[in-house]
Amino acid sequence: MKRRHDRIVMVTAYDAPAARLADEAGVELILVGDTAAMVMLGHESTVPVTLEEMLFLTRAVTRAARRPLVVGDLPFGSYQQSDDEAIASAVRMVKEGGADVVKLEGAGRMVERVRAIVDAGIGVMGHIGLTPQSATKLGGFRAQGRTAAAAIKLYEDAFALQAAGAFAIVLEAVPAPVAARITAALEVPTIGIGAGADCDGQVLVWHDLLGLYPGSTPRFVKRYAELADEILGALGQYAADVRMGAFPEERHTYAMPDDELAAFESALSELQ
Ligand code: KIV
Repeated sequence: MKRRHDRIVMVTAYDAPAARLADEAGVELILVGDTAAMVMLGHESTVPVTLEEMLFLTRAVTRAARRPLVVGDLPFGSYQQSDDEAIASAVRMVKEGGADVVKLEGAGRMVERVRAIVDAGIGVMGHIGLTPQSATKLGGFRAQGRTAAAAIKLYEDAFALQAAGAFAIVLEAVPAPVAARITAALEVPTIGIGAGADCDGQVLVWHDLLGLYPGSTPRFVKRYAELADEILGALGQYAADVRMGAFPEERHTYAMPDDELAAFESALSELQ
């Protein structure tokens, strides 16, 4: 797709209905992202989600996604300590989660983890720029690569990941010109989120894209729907109907044959 200049579409999904819809919509890649920690599990950051929790969600997605490539995100603490730990987590993500490939964050020492997992036979998507698992170290959720030196570092990191065998690289919250230069120079595709239009593909988080929560979203998000409003409206209507006795109606209930009802009534009166 990169060679043909066909843009790649990736979206996150965390359950079977979302995966089915993403598949039907024709996206190329589904990411079972560790953003699940925040948008599904209610945590303040992506750090607390465990490998077991990610496997549970990934299994739900891979049961439903037929055509898209499913990327299982390795959570914080499941690959940083050693190559062996990284390989073991990636193997579980593929064997138990059913993911096609895995994603991990960072460069530097993580480049060796990428190489180790690729050598074990599992495809790896890299992720640089704003890497939420280490947001505290980066000084918070903020754009990266905004100085010449930081941009060069990102450029070198992207090449190191490619050399280690990463098949694609997520660039998160990176100035558009920096992402464009990296994208043009790499052989493998870049998938941008807050990295401008010149990346080879784009990714958005399911809940951001669909407006599944009220309030503001990060600068780089475009909300293509306002489903939180739709859901609130529907729930309000349901609650009002229940309280008024307007739901359920006759058509929502099950009938029984008249003779069985009569027999039931008479059995009841004998009991009383
Ligand atoms: O976990 C995730 O959803 C991600 C995307 C934001 C790229 O890593």
